[in-house]
Amino acid sequence: MRPSRYLTGAALHALLCLPYASPAAAEKFEVTLPIDGRTSLIESDTAAVYYPDSKKSSPFFIGNDGSAEGGFKVWEIYGPQGSPKEVGEYKTGRTKLVEILYDDAGDLLVTLSMSDGLIRVFELGKDGVVGDAKGQKLVRGDFSAICGLKSAEGGYVYVLGKRWGYKFLIREKLSKGRKVKAVEIVETQEFGIPIEPNSCTVSPDGRVFFAGDNGKLFSFLAVEETAPPKVVEVGEPAGGDEIKGLKIYHGKKDTYLFVGLEDGIEVFDIKKLGSSLGTIKFADGDLELNDFAIYQRGSKSHSDGTLIYAGENDDGAFFGASSLSPLFESSKLKVNTKYDPRDCAPKGHSKPKKCAALSDCNGYGYCPNDKKAGTCDCFPGFAGKTCNKITCSDNCTSSSHGKCTGPNTCTCVSPWTGDKCATLAVPAKYETEESGGADGDDPAIWIHPTDKSKSRIITTVKSEVGSGLGVYDLRGKRIGGVSGGEPNNVDVLYGFDLAGRKVDLAVAGCRADDTICIYEITSTGELVDVPGGVQPLPTAVKDLEKKFKVYGSCVYHSPKTGHYHIFINSKSSLYLQFQLSTTSDGKLNTTLVRHFYAGNRGQVEGCVIDDPNSRLFLGEEPYGLWSYPAEPDEPAVGTLVDNTVVDGGKLHADVEGVTLVYGKTKQEGYIVVSCQGYSEYNIYQRYPPHAYVMSFTIPNNDERGVDRVTNTDGITAVGTGLGSEWPYGIVVVHDDVNEAAGGGVRSDATFKILGLKDILGAKVVEKLGLLKGVDEEWDPHN
Ligand SMILES: *[C@@H]1O[C@H](CO)[C@@H](O)[C@H](O)[C@H]1NC(C)=O
Ligand SMILES: *[C@@H]1O[C@H](CO)[C@@H](O)[C@H](O)[C@H]1NC(C)=O
Repeated sequence: MRPSRYLTGAALHALLCLPYASPAAAEKFEVTLPIDGRTSLIESDTAAVYYPDSKKSSPFFIGNDGSAEGGFKVWEIYGPQGSPKEVGEYKTGRTKLVEILYDDAGDLLVTLSMSDGLIRVFELGKDGVVGDAKGQKLVRGDFSAICGLKSAEGGYVYVLGKRWGYKFLIREKLSKGRKVKAVEIVETQEFGIPIEPNSCTVSPDGRVFFAGDNGKLFSFLAVEETAPPKVVEVGEPAGGDEIKGLKIYHGKKDTYLFVGLEDGIEVFDIKKLGSSLGTIKFADGDLELNDFAIYQRGSKSHSDGTLIYAGENDDGAFFGASSLSPLFESSKLKVNTKYDPRDCAPKGHSKPKKCAALSDCNGYGYCPNDKKAGTCDCFPGFAGKTCNKITCSDNCTSSSHGKCTGPNTCTCVSPWTGDKCATLAVPAKYETEESGGADGDDPAIWIHPTDKSKSRIITTVKSEVGSGLGVYDLRGKRIGGVSGGEPNNVDVLYGFDLAGRKVDLAVAGCRADDTICIYEITSTGELVDVPGGVQPLPTAVKDLEKKFKVYGSCVYHSPKTGHYHIFINSKSSLYLQFQLSTTSDGKLNTTLVRHFYAGNRGQVEGCVIDDPNSRLFLGEEPYGLWSYPAEPDEPAVGTLVDNTVVDGGKLHADVEGVTLVYGKTKQEGYIVVSCQGYSEYNIYQRYPPHAYVMSFTIPNNDERGVDRVTNTDGITAVGTGLGSEWPYGIVVVHDDVNEAAGGGVRSDATFKILGLKDILGAKVVEKLGLLKGVDEEWDPHN
């Protein structure tokens, strides 16, 4: 293991890094910071500042680029005109998280790309130059917060996402000349958390703080042990408003916690989280903050340090920089420009635990506190008294599925894949032609009344550019489409009586103008405007929830009343149920007939309705899949179909798209659910108790040049035979990052198309006879 050289330094500084008692709180300050400089437009979410090793070098910050072709960029904080100066661009794929680790052997930059789920660790040069990735590790899930800390063993990063967190040890392997040869990334801990966080930070007293969009602040101790930490709620620092970034300011005596909000930053003494010391606002009142970072040292232009922030206004998103001088001039906060992140490891991390009798746990576990106790506390995937053995959870399902070849690393036998070789890999056969939009979501399939092979795929483009619905044939060729206000989820209603005419309708929630948007589908599958096709939300909705914004949607044709319904939800989990009718002059009209909050009030989006059984299935992204009665006069009591792994279920957050395949009876058929961060799909029996059937994922199809599905969102499927090519219908899924054949990424999103037969009828699951549960003659026109 790498010898640690800075112990004395850390021990000396440990005292300085700990907070002291401070005098009684003075009156609250409010300071407005002018924006001194800003970058050009970029999809900014998080920033990290880098203190170069040499005082002569200028400081840098690293910001993410969250666009599909993104990665991260490096800027000098102070450019020639006061604006940050871009000095490097790295295209590692859509990235949201960046963090810096300081280490004597070399400073490191840690990034996490959503495109491929890889944590990458780069060496950072004195001059801010990012060298090659020295190590990488796949981490699956939807992660939204990263924070690092220095330790005697190297550095640690916490990566937190939808109700789940990991701690990784990042350890440099040096050559004889003390050059970094490689970086090892070892998981040391995994644990559940109560919310989806959007930021975290580590305080010098060894506490990890994290916060989420529910405005609550949580913390746990960053102890070197493998057991899950005890997470406690420590307050609601901004009175319940969404928290957008957390950072520590290391004062000379006090430690300040900066809590980002959409429109500013609240500053707290870390010992008194009950009441803030004051508020930082921005001179640009339209600026909405996403995250921020603090550079504490002074410079010619910013003598008291700089605040860097990821934010957006009407122009778009960017990174901005402001001098911190006004803050220290108009508050009693004490400036500390001498802060050096290399000086101290948080409490409990400055001294490696040693145990020669247990071979120091071979570097893959912690020595027991009681040295006489005979076994190490091994990292996940390691076992044995001295952590000298490798294990895999669930033993890679079975020897016919795969072998355990590394710590929790299975080598699977094709077509099995996934963490535990329990997921079937089924490549897509086609993808939709590029549609001119970067961001798609939930598609639908319209079944042709007479020639099933002429059925159509309807897709959503919710990005501003290209916004609308696209229409494709069953091989992904674009046939047409309509522009519209950023539709999110689209569904099809068949045979609605519009003033004596039976019409099929495509229904979506349009986010741009917060309406229910409806188009007629002609008998040849074209989308055309329909009278009353734009349904604004009734004012009563704003009485229910001021911030209601349309998000996910699905449709219901009641077998009991013959009525047509539209369900539409907001992220808050409020579901609105509308009955669709016509006015006397032949226009569509909607009436709100029911509303309820779904699940545990976590974020919801995708839903589908089982018409014959009158059941609504909805995904609550961080928790699981729920079922509700669909009739408006029934009580909105939900039943959990399955929950996420953190609660012992088989789903992975985000639980996103939900679709349904009908069987020949009301008891047969399947529900298919997409798990976004995992890009896997779970299949359940349609009828209670909704037994789990299988999981699949969509890898590259090299032969046909159709790329794999990443960060999957919406999904739709039908089991109806759609011509000879698709005897049991198709599954259509959203693909976030459309990877180009020769490497790189295409800017337009696509949807992937595969046969349901290739999933349910795959050779390795043939004996389950799953296709028998599909009604390949199901016809919504009957
Ligand atoms: C795991 O699988 C391997 C090989 O397939 C087998 O030898 C071993 O006994 C299994 N271990 C457990 C705990 O089932
Ligand atoms: C449309 O529905 C609303 C809500 O039920 C109703 O108040 C209104 O009168 C209807 N409009 C027409 C023109 O029928």
